[in-house]
Parts: sequence; C-alpha cells; structure tokens
Amino acid sequence: MSKASKIEVPQHIAIVMDGNGRWAKERGLARTAGHEAGEKVLFDLVEAAIGFGVKELSAYAFSTENWKRTPEEVKFLMGYSRDVLRNRRDRLNEMGVKVQWIGRPQRLWKSVIEELEEAEKLTKKNKVLTLNMCVNYGGRAELVDAATALARDVKRGKVKPDSITEKTIEKYLYAPKMRDVDMFLRSSGEQRTSNFLPWQSTYAEFVFMDVLWPDMTPALLWKAIEEYSCRDRRFGKA
Ligand code: IPE
Ligand code: IPE
Ligand code: MG
Repeated sequence: MSKASKIEVPQHIAIVMDGNGRWAKERGLARTAGHEAGEKVLFDLVEAAIGFGVKELSAYAFSTENWKRTPEEVKFLMGYSRDVLRNRRDRLNEMGVKVQWIGRPQRLWKSVIEELEEAEKLTKKNKVLTLNMCVNYGGRAELVDAATALARDVKRGKVKPDSITEKTIEKYLYAPKMRDVDMFLRSSGEQRTSNFLPWQSTYAEFVFMDVLWPDMTPALLWKAIEEYSCRDRRFGKA
C-alpha cells in the first residue's frame, strides 16, 4: 500500500500564513521582502494541495486587525494583493481553482476588490479546489455582519426569531457553502487563531508548525497532513 493511501486527507485546510516579517528580519531585509517571498509559497501549496486531494483551502492574507500596522506596510500589502491576484488568476484558472473572496469591503482598496471580483468571475465554474482568499477578514467581524443582516431580516418579517438554527446563521456568513475546517494550520510557531474562521473551525484539528511562512514547502504541508491523519476526531461522540 502506498503511503498516501493510508493517510486521511483533510477536505478543507485553513492556513494562517504567518512569519513573513521575521523571515525578512533574520536576513536584514525589509518586512515587505518577507511578504514577497511568501507569495510564491501559497501558490506552490495550492498546487500541492490539489495533488494531495484537498478540496478547499482558506488563506489568511490580511486580517481586520492588520490595519493597525504602519501605513507603509498596509499600503504595500494592498498594492501587492492587487498585483498578485492579477498575475496569478489565469494560472489558477488553468488548474481548475475556484477563487472566492472572504472578507469585508469596508476600508479595502477598491482596486483590490476589483481584482478579487475579477478572479471570482473568471474561475466561478471551476471545481478542482476552492481557494478562499481571506482579505480584510476577521472572524468577529464576520459574525457581526451576519448578526446585522439577520436582524434586518427579522425586522422585515423574513425570519422568525424562534426558528433560528445553526443552519440559519451559516446562511448569513460570507461564504455559506464553505465546508467546516478540517485542519487549521499556522506557520511561524505562534499558537493562536488570530480571529481566523472561528465559526467554521469549532471542530478543526490544529497543527502549529515552527516554520516561518516563506520557508513552508509542499513536503511540510504533507507532514502536517500526516499529523492531522493521526488525530482521533470524535465530534463529541463517545
Ligand atoms: C504574515 O506575516 C503576513 C500578514 C499578516 C499579512 P507577518 O507580517 O505577520 O510576519 P511576522 O509575524 O511579523 O513575522
Ligand atoms: C494573522 O497574522 C493574520 C494573517 C496571517 C493575515 P498576524 O501576524 O496578524 O497575527 P498576530 O498579530 O500575531 O496575532
Ligand atoms: Mg505575524
């Protein structure tokens, strides 16, 4: 039996791509050089994930808290996201990747939103892997936005408060069809979620890797999947 056949591959992997700044600092470079080095890694891992049979990958690219960074870094991250989306979308499309933007429009550069929407439009029929690009995403912001929209529908008489279930809440999330997260992966050694996909990750298996994001590789992703595969997922059952 081949190695791969014994391994249970997670359908949905959420990734906190962390450690770009430290990677750059170790080399005496500007933090932005770390972001540039990390960009290629994401696309290599998307390609690898397809090969492993992963169906959905959520990448945390910019959080609602990242606006607290210096104006120079925020400006770089906005411009860079816009350029990366434009440069990568054709290749992603060829690979059968469906790109989906997850996040809040408020404050986000209009040009970034346009590129996200362009990539969504181009790739909307693809079925090989769904890539959730989480840009200006915050888990609490998502729940606040869901609560606001739901409250509006209650006020209009569209929803009865006593009929609200978990399924109802899911309908108001940014991507109602998103699968629950199976494996939550964070690079850089930090062991926290930093507000990433709280609703969707309640039963995720957490894998923290002591590797800075630009040093991540497909082989290390496979290592994380092997660790995931050893976990005993019980979902509350005895
Ligand atoms: C992750 O790397 C990228 C973003 C948050 C955009 P960081 O920029 O957080 O790198 P560190 O954590 O400072 O090393
Ligand atoms: C999380 O990383 C956000 C992204 C990777 C986009 P941060 O570096 O912003 O998280 P904290 O500040 O260490 O919690
Ligand atoms: Mg960080």
